[in-house]
Amino acid sequence: MELFVDSADVAEIRELAETGLVAGVTTNPTLIARTGRPLFEVLEEICRLVPGPVSAEVTATDADAMVAEGRRLAAVAANIVVKLPLTWEGLKACRRLETEGIRTNVTLCFSPAQALLAARAGASYVSPFVGRLDDVGEEGMGLVADILTIFRNYRDSLRTRVLAASIRHVQHVVEAARLGADIATVPPAVLRQLVRHPLTDLGLERFLADWRKTGQRIL
Ligand code: E4P
Repeated sequence: MELFVDSADVAEIRELAETGLVAGVTTNPTLIARTGRPLFEVLEEICRLVPGPVSAEVTATDADAMVAEGRRLAAVAANIVVKLPLTWEGLKACRRLETEGIRTNVTLCFSPAQALLAARAGASYVSPFVGRLDDVGEEGMGLVADILTIFRNYRDSLRTRVLAASIRHVQHVVEAARLGADIATVPPAVLRQLVRHPLTDLGLERFLADWRKTGQRIL
């Protein structure tokens, strides 16, 4: 499973991208608003930092305007993926942009039926929102499992990748990988948390203490 960063904070993305572990980035209007910066400036900087797919979301609600916005967003860099909401208009725009060779990420997916439609519209990615389903008492990861099961039935004809989104904690990431999601887009704090384990810290502390006692150096 690939790991994307779910953020529009350029400093955070830069730091995480330096690990070489970040395969892509997802943004949304809320994340852009949080930066307080101009959209295109932020997108250009992110696309320079991360060569993988960078999702940028349209804000229009009818297909014609979504397509126009999508073309404008895609002009920022070759690695832009246009994010479209899972509505009839979003699906129409998805089909049109994909036909033009512009990759799309159909977002705000909350049901397997919606995911099937996104795949039939030719989306490059579909984003089931795990945490937001959990928030309303549903099992968000169950949606990821259902989508993967359905897509596997048609693996020869469907090329849409499943991008687990609205990830809130480490266990979400682990479970998405266990199920076989293609990608998880992870907030920076959760991404940093993935590496942490108290036994790693304790083990390292002990190894280094014992090594110091030998008085030796490697270099
Ligand atoms: C995905 O592309 C979205 O930007 C994101 O995962 C939404 O997460 P949230 O539900 O934590 O806002």
